[in-house]
Amino acid sequence: MENFMFNINQISSISFGSGIRNQLGSALAKYNLSKVLVITDEFLKNSGLIDDIIKSIELAGINVCIFEGAKPENPSTIVGNCAEFAKNERVEAFIGVGGGSVLDLAKSSRILMSNPAPINLYFDINRPRVSSHLPLILIPTTSGTSSEVSHGAMVFDPINNSKHGLSGEDLAPTLSYIDPELTAGMPSQITAYTGIDCFCHSAESLTSGFNENPLTDLLATEALRIINNNLLIAITDGSNHNAREMMSLACIWSGIAFDNAPPHLAHAIGHAIGAKNHVPHGEAVGAILPSVISWAANYKPEKVRMIADSMSLQLNDSALPNELGIKVGNAIRKLYLDCGCRPIHQLINENDIPIISKIAMDDLACYCVPYPISFDLIKDLIKKEVTLQADY
Ligand SMILES: [Fe+2]
Repeated sequence: MENFMFNINQISSISFGSGIRNQLGSALAKYNLSKVLVITDEFLKNSGLIDDIIKSIELAGINVCIFEGAKPENPSTIVGNCAEFAKNERVEAFIGVGGGSVLDLAKSSRILMSNPAPINLYFDINRPRVSSHLPLILIPTTSGTSSEVSHGAMVFDPINNSKHGLSGEDLAPTLSYIDPELTAGMPSQITAYTGIDCFCHSAESLTSGFNENPLTDLLATEALRIINNNLLIAITDGSNHNAREMMSLACIWSGIAFDNAPPHLAHAIGHAIGAKNHVPHGEAVGAILPSVISWAANYKPEKVRMIADSMSLQLNDSALPNELGIKVGNAIRKLYLDCGCRPIHQLINENDIPIISKIAMDDLACYCVPYPISFDLIKDLIKKEVTLQADY
């Protein structure tokens, strides 16, 4: 190993287990709280899915107030409203219960408990922030975004019509509280999109050009193995408890993996496809992943071979990078399409490939691409993927 250097972010406390939502109250005892804020969305509140959680907190003698205004893409105004509500209610902890955007709202609004509003000020990554001392507990009801363990959050700026990523130690949850039973009701299509997103995070963190590290290698390969064995089962039989449990587990490992070595070109292109055509995130990044990883085999063959091993692909030890890339690309493409995701030519118009490539070039994820990129390379990778998926 020559000049091998890396950093590992602080990892939050994690509690995992089916049914543990009923023990949340006792898990909160050590924080000595009298009133907490539960952040969720209207659908989850009305569905009754959070009832056990509220009951458990109240049984522990802790008062609960609920902010149910989370939206699919948290506009900065809602972040401000949530923080205002928390201040007025004088809460002592933030508990996010929901999908990735709900958890991101809990993370981003907590920033405003110890820093001046509005949240837009912190879109400038160089602006210093003070960490809030209020405990942050994150309870996912989906498995895929990994927001429950990551140091990042997305906020939408409605004035400039742009999405912004916040990141830092102050976004690390105090406790990631993961009960796979909460994901049982996820519709099959959402299971597919979030599961493919989780696969992308794992494959891209393993091949990331930023902060390559052995913890990411370990966790990403294990996440890929789990997803490869369980995602299709979770999609076709949502009530399969073991598959749901394994997908929640994969989501934790994947989140810690990519929190340290971020995703790259499939996310850059996927963000561009999403921005141009409003395609769901998991589908947009998954559609282009096969060609992105195939090309990575020319630069990081040992990492792409790890993906092959995690997917139990049979390969000769002497396989050249090109052959390795083709085989792994084919296997990822098959998984993506078998999950019921749409082929890429149904997500984009071929005439839009140049504009999508241009938007992708400006995406921050491009800093983590493990190979030299250019407008022409991105354009060629998209065109190639369109042809391969059309022939599938
Ligand atoms: Fe993603």
